[in-house]
Amino acid sequence: MRKKIVAGNWKMNTTVAEGVQLAKDVLAKVSEVPADVKLVVAPPFVHISSVGAVLEGSSIGLSAQNCADEVKGAYTGEVSAKMLASVGVQYVILGHSERREYYGETNAKLVKKIGLALGEGLAPIYCVGEKLEEREAGKHFEVVGSQIKEVLFTLSAEQMKSVVIAYEPVWAIGTGKTATSEQAQEIHSFIRATLAEQFGALAEEITILYGGSCKPSNAKELFAQKDIDGGLIGGAALVADDFVAIAKSF
Ligand code: 13P
Repeated sequence: MRKKIVAGNWKMNTTVAEGVQLAKDVLAKVSEVPADVKLVVAPPFVHISSVGAVLEGSSIGLSAQNCADEVKGAYTGEVSAKMLASVGVQYVILGHSERREYYGETNAKLVKKIGLALGEGLAPIYCVGEKLEEREAGKHFEVVGSQIKEVLFTLSAEQMKSVVIAYEPVWAIGTGKTATSEQAQEIHSFIRATLAEQFGALAEEITILYGGSCKPSNAKELFAQKDIDGGLIGGAALVADDFVAIAKSF
């Protein structure tokens, strides 16, 4: 049985006080979520200790949105995987399209980040997805295939067991435009088949999340697809009721 996960990527939203309140509101409703669905929240770095204190002892996982591609030292403004682990972080989102697009993150850089995260016992939530022009040119399988192969095929099977994948078509992020459940299932199944080339039967055990304008009104249909094991939620994760409603959609 694959793990079902609904993760909230808060991106660069909320003050620390607002983030703490959001975490409290999610915690207050976590008992409504089916026991086999893991909730994860990914606040900004400066919120992590305060939000972690709210979530301590609960079933809700704590994630960062990024980590450095170096171990330590003179890298002004960076936050290392070890620092994140030291404050109780369990997951780290890596390779989000916003980081690839605005901060020049390449597959090569992501190989380093994933290795460092795994080395500190963090579970990477590795994001892949094509841009609109790539989909329109029929290149979505090629793009996603290389994001998977160039990064995840460098891992051992043991390392791969800790990785969660999130498919986020860039054209669906924050646009209100969701991939249809058929489009999402088609790519999720392709990702699983690609993983199987390298990892064999382990591919069946890897959790693959969908992200991109996922909300209470469309989560049920998306999560009903065979290869969709949950969601990576942006905007709707900033409203506790919506986030929990999405997690109740399985
Ligand atoms: P939205 O849910 O706001 O479209 O964002 C998706 C996302 O990028 C999650 O990482």
